[in-house]
Amino acid sequence: MLAISPTDRVFVLTGAGVSAESGIPTFRGVGGLWRNYRIEEVASPHAWRRDPRLVWEFYSMRRRVAGAAKPNSAHLALAKLEQKLQDRLFLCTQNVDDLHEQSGSMRVVHMHGELFKSRCDRCSRPPFHDTNTYDPPAELPRCECGGRIRPHICWFGEVPFESERIFRALDECTIFMAVGTSGVVEPAASFVAHVSDRARTIYVGPEEPANLSAFTECHLGKAGEVLPEFLALQTWKI
Ligand code: OAD
Repeated sequence: MLAISPTDRVFVLTGAGVSAESGIPTFRGVGGLWRNYRIEEVASPHAWRRDPRLVWEFYSMRRRVAGAAKPNSAHLALAKLEQKLQDRLFLCTQNVDDLHEQSGSMRVVHMHGELFKSRCDRCSRPPFHDTNTYDPPAELPRCECGGRIRPHICWFGEVPFESERIFRALDECTIFMAVGTSGVVEPAASFVAHVSDRARTIYVGPEEPANLSAFTECHLGKAGEVLPEFLALQTWKI
């Protein structure tokens, strides 16, 4: 059980594993997306320049899968934690689905972008809500400026979103918890090392992550089974 004092600030980093029990495939491991798709063909600026249709096919498929998914008890436990801690919880996700929001989390930071947003690849038009799917032979969407509309996703080789806010929150946190992330993709994989000299560091997931040695605690199990009990309301010392 996690004891949280009135002065604690909690940073939670979630990864694909937190949405696995909602039916959204992870990237690595058995059934992982990167087993069936090559990252460089669907999730990089190079892929976008070379074959935007294939890129949209991939993200259209992901929009369909995520659009049908519902939050699980891990998302709900984190939303309840936010209700209790308010801005003393910083919820940073590598996930591009909206299941944290669907479960009631109000302050989610999507460092890798959002699946249900698109933006222009040329002009400064802000990212906009977009649930459309663009499967060939459909015409690919264009901006008024003539640029191509692309998914609002941080691709490999691009800079993750909200880095300044994220590192400020890491500097302030006293408890760091990573849930359902394999610990191989930077910069998120190094967040734990950034705080480990002064914060309590906890990992939750069914397998040990690649960066396990930087954590002080590891709770093996599915997020949907571990988190509701670990974050149980009645045990909080606030
Ligand atoms: P990965 O697919 O690399 O890792 C998923 C992790 O979830 C693994 O460590 C699994 O053990 C764990 N897992 C599986 N089922 C779980 C469950 N029920 N509860 C908790 N954990 C579970 O996903 P990420 O680490 O999130 O980036 O991947 C990081 C980034 O790599 C993604 O955001 C994506 C990807 O390429 C971009 O697309 C930019």
